[in-house]
Amino acid sequence: MKVCIIGTGYVGLPTGVGLCTLGHKVTCVDKDAAKIANLNYGHSTLYEPYLKELLEEHLKNKAIKFTTDIKKALKDAKVVILAVGTPTSNDGASADLTYIKQAAKEVAENLPNNYTVICTKSTVPVGTNDLIEDIFKKYCMHTNWDIVSLPEFLKEGCAIKDFLLADRIVIGTDSKRARQRISTLYSGHSSELYFTSRRSAELIKYASNAFLAIKINYINEIANLCEKCGAKVDEVAKGMGLDRRIGNKFLQAGIGFGGSCFPKDTKALSYTAQEYKTNMPLVDVAILENHCRVSKLVKRIESLVKPTQKLALLGLTFKANTDDCRESQAVKIADKLSKKYKHIKVYDPKGMDNAKKVLKDKVEYAKLSTDAVKGADAIIILTGWNSFKVNFKKILKNSKKSCIIIDYVNLLNPKQVTNHKYYCIGK
Ligand code: UGA
Repeated sequence: MKVCIIGTGYVGLPTGVGLCTLGHKVTCVDKDAAKIANLNYGHSTLYEPYLKELLEEHLKNKAIKFTTDIKKALKDAKVVILAVGTPTSNDGASADLTYIKQAAKEVAENLPNNYTVICTKSTVPVGTNDLIEDIFKKYCMHTNWDIVSLPEFLKEGCAIKDFLLADRIVIGTDSKRARQRISTLYSGHSSELYFTSRRSAELIKYASNAFLAIKINYINEIANLCEKCGAKVDEVAKGMGLDRRIGNKFLQAGIGFGGSCFPKDTKALSYTAQEYKTNMPLVDVAILENHCRVSKLVKRIESLVKPTQKLALLGLTFKANTDDCRESQAVKIADKLSKKYKHIKVYDPKGMDNAKKVLKDKVEYAKLSTDAVKGADAIIILTGWNSFKVNFKKILKNSKKSCIIIDYVNLLNPKQVTNHKYYCIGK
């Protein structure tokens, strides 16, 4: 089946590559000509495990193409996927729908008169697909289309695996014809297809992300209590997770949630609730506590390390296995620390370029983790990269004989660092 994807970001690109793996022919459209040129040469514009390899393979097989020409990309497409950004608006809460509205208008204006299903993969507030439908009614010369909500549940750093082994594929539409078309799109996929109304599908996405954000906030609250009462948060989390009603995922205590999704989507959900004259106090508390966690963790560092001492920060991305530093709690911590500490050296395996955009010259950038820790009085681990864990012995060879190690993602086994003062979360 020919598929056209609008947007080549963290959602559009892995989805495009994933659909090629299912046997479809995909054309991805983006306005950024330089990005499109890079992608046509197989140069992935973002880091995602397995993405580069699959991209090269599908380019070679001519299964995937990249273009700035939307008209050409829409020719013969049976499914169009809108995967553009919906960032937080200037009001700091609601979702900015400018890009999705623009993309919908351009698709509507250029859509050939063959039945096409338009799927919204961008995360959009309840009712947005009705708005997209209105745009199509206004700008499309025909009515040979259906608008479907097809929320995505890919995690960055795991997107290809999540695409191929999704827990569920939620398809929001009342149209029988659209259901059939999307069933065919996923016929090579083993995951359960769950059909709902369009509004329910839109809300499933926000409700899921906010629920996971609340779960993270909850385990961080438990970690705070563990630190006071002598319990160990990893043992508590494991014990909770053995109850299948609770589940063992998203119970890793740490620096709080970041990235381009949870912070934005929790705020947008709370905003939607207000629009509908209700409220979501649980979500609001998770947003607030997550914000306050940065200051709390910085204060703890300040209580352990003098302002004249040297800091090495390991990890800047919002989580491991990505280069993404958007809304990264690690970057926020680094930024706050830079106001007090003169000597901060940072290192991240993939996120240095993105972190530099925010931190600029407030910190020093190391080329290797071993360089970052040279001469440092305190090593602070902020992202759970496996390479830090497996190489920590080597990393420590370059550090002072005895230094302070603050492990804010509970990455290390305390036995690995017995000669040092070791602090972690929730223990
Ligand atoms: C999240 C959702 O998990 C995906 O299902 C969804 O598709 C995506 O948002 C989206 O809306 O596009 P993502 O933001 O890529 O995915 O990353 P997560 O793995 O969910 O992590 C989010 C944040 O929570 C990270 O900062 C991570 O470090 C933190 N986290 C996660 C914890 O602090 N503890 C945990 O146990 C799990």
